[in-house]
Amino acid sequence: MKIAITGHTKGIGLALAEGFKKQGHKVIGFSRSNGYDIVNPKNVDKIIKKSADCDVFINNAYSGNFTSVMEGFIQTDLLLKLHQLWRGQSKKIVVIGSSLSEVYRSLHPDTEEAKYGLLMYETHKISLEHTVNELRTLSWKSPEIIHLKPGLVDTDMTKHLHFEKMNTNYVFDLCNWAIQQPHQVLDLTFAA
Ligand SMILES: NC(=O)c1ccc[n+]([C@@H]2O[C@H](COP(=O)([O-])OP(=O)(O)OC[C@H]3O[C@@H](n4cnc5c(N)ncnc54)[C@H](OP(=O)(O)O)[C@@H]3O)[C@@H](O)[C@H]2O)c1
Repeated sequence: MKIAITGHTKGIGLALAEGFKKQGHKVIGFSRSNGYDIVNPKNVDKIIKKSADCDVFINNAYSGNFTSVMEGFIQTDLLLKLHQLWRGQSKKIVVIGSSLSEVYRSLHPDTEEAKYGLLMYETHKISLEHTVNELRTLSWKSPEIIHLKPGLVDTDMTKHLHFEKMNTNYVFDLCNWAIQQPHQVLDLTFAA
């Protein structure tokens, strides 16, 4: 298969890219470090164009910060655009959402900045989930959307959090399993 991954240079995306390459799949990756910052709409268009002939697209990169709320919705924008392009085609889109909003509630962030950041993250990931659910109600049933919702994973993004975390290879194992199933896997929520 030919598999496209956003955010393939670190963390979850890197584990997915390496895991799928080891299995003999052709992987193409898009991250800031190879010229595909998703914050630039021109790059989103380029990513979609270059992924047109892929079998699987892994919508992993998330760009969010305290100062620009809109950036966090780009992952959703990318999903909508690709879904439209692949309408009616038997391909798979894997969306990396999060179950962290629930986990974060129990972390009790103590600064206003952290609280605001978590609120934004939750807003973005809930919007992503809502979009996944709405796209599934459309009359055409393909492309399939597999929504993975990990809890805390050991990556740069969570290095400041001192709680139990799962290994990125575990996310690869679940993603790989979900893609291989003959019947559609919808949502997978898992936690460390
Ligand atoms: N870590 C967790 O506990 C956890 C839990 C649940 C869900 N998630 C989700 O998993 C996904 C990946 O998170 P992660 O923890 O693996 O993060 P990470 O280790 O920080 O890696 C982020 C990846 O995305 C790329 N990236 C960041 N900003 C980008 C941008 N503007 N344009 C293009 N690429 C960009 C980075 O590469 P460059 O620096 O080269 O751009 C890197 O390859 C996110 O959607 C996150 O919400 C993570």
